Amino acid sequence: MSELPTISKELSKEKRYKAACAQAFALCNGEPNFIAKAGNVMALLKENFDFLWVGIYIVNNNALNLFVFQGPVACTQIEHGKGVCGTSWSNGASIIVPNVDEFPGHIACSSASKSEIVVPIIKGNEVIGVLDVDSTQLDFFDEDDLTGLEEIANILANEVF
Ligand code: SME
Repeated sequence: MSELPTISKELSKEKRYKAACAQAFALCNGEPNFIAKAGNVMALLKENFDFLWVGIYIVNNNALNLFVFQGPVACTQIEHGKGVCGTSWSNGASIIVPNVDEFPGHIACSSASKSEIVVPIIKGNEVIGVLDVDSTQLDFFDEDDLTGLEEIANILANEVF
C-alpha cells in the first residue's frame, strides 16, 4: 500500500468526504484482513478531519465492544440502549449530539469531548456496530458529516466486515 495523498482542507466538507470515501475503497481493495482495513479507514479519517476521536464499536455478546480507533483511550463495553452509541444501536439510526452534556445518559470517555456523532454500521438488516466520532468543539457535526460518515459506515459494512 503506497502513501495516500492528504485531502486538502481547502475543499468543502462534502468534497473532503467524497475523497475520503474513494481513499477508503482504495485502502480496502485487495486487503483480506478486516482489522487491517478497519484500522486504516479510522487512520484516514483521523488524519484528514479535525476529530478528537474516531472509532468503531462492534456488537459482540449483546454489548458494544471497543474495536479499532484513533484518539484517547476509550470505554471498552457499552450496553444496548446506553449512551449515544447504545442508543444509535438500539434505534438503528444516526445521532448528532451538539452538546454531550445535554444528552441524557451520555457516556464520557474523554473530558475533552464536547460534541459527538454516532452512525450505525448496518449489514443486511442488522446493526453490526457503530462508527463513533468525537470533537473538542461544541456543535461540530452537521448534515455533511452525517452524509459523509453514513457513506463511510456503508463502506465498512460492505468492504470491511
Ligand atoms: N460517548 C459515547 C461513548 C464512547 S466514546 O465517546 C469514545 C456514548 O455516549 O456512547
